[in-house]
Amino acid sequence: MGFLKSSIQVRARYKRCKSAWEAHLEQTRVMVLRAAQLAPRRRKALVFGAGLLHDIPLRQLSEMFELVVLADIVHLWPCRLEALRYGNVKLLRCDATGALGQLSAAARRPALPPPASRPREFLDDSVLDFTVSVNLLSQLGWVPGLFLGKSCSADQIDALKSQFISAHLEYLRRLPGHTSLITDTVWSALPQNGTAPAGPTEEWDVLSGVCLPEPDHAWNWSIAPAPERSPHTDYTARVHAYTDWKSAFG
Ligand SMILES: C[S@@+](CC[C@H](N)C(=O)[O-])C[C@H]1O[C@@H](n2cnc3c(N)ncnc32)[C@H](O)[C@@H]1O
Repeated sequence: MGFLKSSIQVRARYKRCKSAWEAHLEQTRVMVLRAAQLAPRRRKALVFGAGLLHDIPLRQLSEMFELVVLADIVHLWPCRLEALRYGNVKLLRCDATGALGQLSAAARRPALPPPASRPREFLDDSVLDFTVSVNLLSQLGWVPGLFLGKSCSADQIDALKSQFISAHLEYLRRLPGHTSLITDTVWSALPQNGTAPAGPTEEWDVLSGVCLPEPDHAWNWSIAPAPERSPHTDYTARVHAYTDWKSAFG
């Protein structure tokens, strides 16, 4: 479907933008640990969007919890090797939306309603004490949107993305134990080196219209400094962190 390619692209972009990304990665690690401290007990920790582990404080989590589960749709070999260093870290290949299995059928029959995300995994897990969703939310509909691009309309894809995102937020509210969320929300494009823009700043809502509550913490992620995406434009993502998602979501 394109997840492997996307993961390889993130790895390559990380290598090119390492120094620009470091403040964001460190801020994310700090927030993951702050949220983990709030867990009622220290049996199982679940990390959604573990990916290449750039932003996951794995050693500290493995020391804090009896078991750490790294959940992602694809685990590239650097992540597999890193996980092997810890006896209590397990990789779990899983689809956080629970809907990807139906996407091929949706691409073949675009006249039908697109699949809806209704994740159920872990909802009855009696030892799950902590879950964190790390820089995953905006990605949930990204690859599916590209996959459906040729067969579905832009409106259908937008609706699918927004449903996937809302379902994940609700899922984090329903999971047992303490839950937390870190996600990019809006991207903006500015002329290189902070020069004043000629017109209004260009911005994109990467959460497809889904509104989030006030975050505990927020910061800017220099996600694609020039010339990564464009020769003279810097792209920045606004990131929100919720160390206690259930309280924030209400
Ligand atoms: C931007 S990365 C998160 C950053 C990651 N922690 C890192 O260090 O690279 C988003 C991650 O979400 C994963 N992902 C996207 N859709 C997913 C899905 N439906 N279920 C599980 N993981 C998914 C991707 O494979 C990717 O690893």
